[in-house]
Amino acid sequence: MPKNMRLIILQTILFLSCINPFYTQTVYAQYLRDYAKVINLNFGSPTQGLKPQMMDSLSNNFNFTIPGNSLKFNMVEPKQGKFDFKFADSVVDFAEKHGMKVKGHCLIWHWSEPGWLWYYSVHGHPTREGMLKIMKTHIDNVVGHFKGRINEWDLVNEAILDKPDWDGGCLKNTHWRSIIGPDYIDSAFVYAHRADPKAYLYLNDYSGEMNFPQEKVKADLIYEFVKGLVKRGIPIHGVGLESHINNVADEFGIYLNIKRYADLGIRVAMTETDIMHSSFSPVAWTAMLNAAVANFNFTTFVVWGMTDQYSWKGRNCDCLMWDVNFERKPSVFKAVITAMFKADKKVALLRGRFQAIPADDRMPNIPDSLSVNTEGKHIELKWGNTAKAMTYAVERANTKDGPYKIVEKEIIETSYTDKHVKKGTNYYYKVLAVNPFGISQDSKEIAISY
Ligand code: XIL
Repeated sequence: MPKNMRLIILQTILFLSCINPFYTQTVYAQYLRDYAKVINLNFGSPTQGLKPQMMDSLSNNFNFTIPGNSLKFNMVEPKQGKFDFKFADSVVDFAEKHGMKVKGHCLIWHWSEPGWLWYYSVHGHPTREGMLKIMKTHIDNVVGHFKGRINEWDLVNEAILDKPDWDGGCLKNTHWRSIIGPDYIDSAFVYAHRADPKAYLYLNDYSGEMNFPQEKVKADLIYEFVKGLVKRGIPIHGVGLESHINNVADEFGIYLNIKRYADLGIRVAMTETDIMHSSFSPVAWTAMLNAAVANFNFTTFVVWGMTDQYSWKGRNCDCLMWDVNFERKPSVFKAVITAMFKADKKVALLRGRFQAIPADDRMPNIPDSLSVNTEGKHIELKWGNTAKAMTYAVERANTKDGPYKIVEKEIIETSYTDKHVKKGTNYYYKVLAVNPFGISQDSKEIAISY
């Protein structure tokens, strides 16, 4: 086809895409995961219920997946001590082939208790020690099997009450809770962290995302509980907000509920998003994404399935991104893509740095390779990219070894221009690296006479 003919066709498509949203389908230059990559976001869907024809769509559009239901307790340890990793192994193989990350879902959830565990809990004269041993064996085997291949886990699932119980407690009275005691979650995190110190461990729950009156109570319970874990030094790294939404989303509430975890150094993910009856009014999709990607500690957005055909909410839910005929829903795609496209690029950069902080060794390194020069009326300080740093602070003194004063903080770049300098003065500088887990030690001192 002649070159100018191709140009005319492309221009026509672009023109039609402006007047008819359905044509926008044909001009998507990239897949969803390409948009996600630009903003350093994990964008995922489980493989659950997927027919072979959807597997291409999965790997084209998502950079993150979950082996469906196959890692739930009853599926992976159907008989005590007998583990079945077949399906999850095949999903991990698939994911590795397509450059996708994998999350394990979920290790400790009362709804997926296998028969043998129920029997032991009810009729087996269970003891705290016996139950802890079962928990440890399960976690050691499952996390251990995937060590180095699955590096994040929904460790404890749906453990928090919707409102406080009579004595202010926040834990559901599951077998784990009633037999082991309220510290069972602490133990689960410690066991999993020992089994794979590099894995990110999440507490996952529903109704923790919004501040609508009926949900705020639970959102606060989850937050206070997680804050307690962090303060006690329990190795928790993330909170999963399931995000099963009934068409209306409280954008500002969601934003705040994610943001308050940032100071605790806790990652937040939307882990099971589906939005009921949403394709005619996809506003909630935009709201969810907008609120999420405005936070650097928001790392992962997962939809709970691709097509309505296999949604756990039933095929008439109109709650996912593909319809029952496996066709993309243009209005929902547009909402999701627009939100990702408009996301703040500075926040995205910080998200990338936050994601790169390992689970087991989180303090920022000390900045090095400092250099300093005069630049006209200013002094220009530069240093090297520093592992685990999210931002930097610069200190200055007029005499060797101080006293030093912070002159600038929250610096994103690896340079600083000092504009407040006087001729004939000696300046000494040091740089610090900062992330939510702390501040590095001072860099070496560097001096300049201006
Ligand atoms: C659901 C699955 O989608 C169904 O296929 C399965 O039959 C039951 O579990 N919260 C969770 C998920 O954490 O694991 C649940 O998934 C949905 C609610």
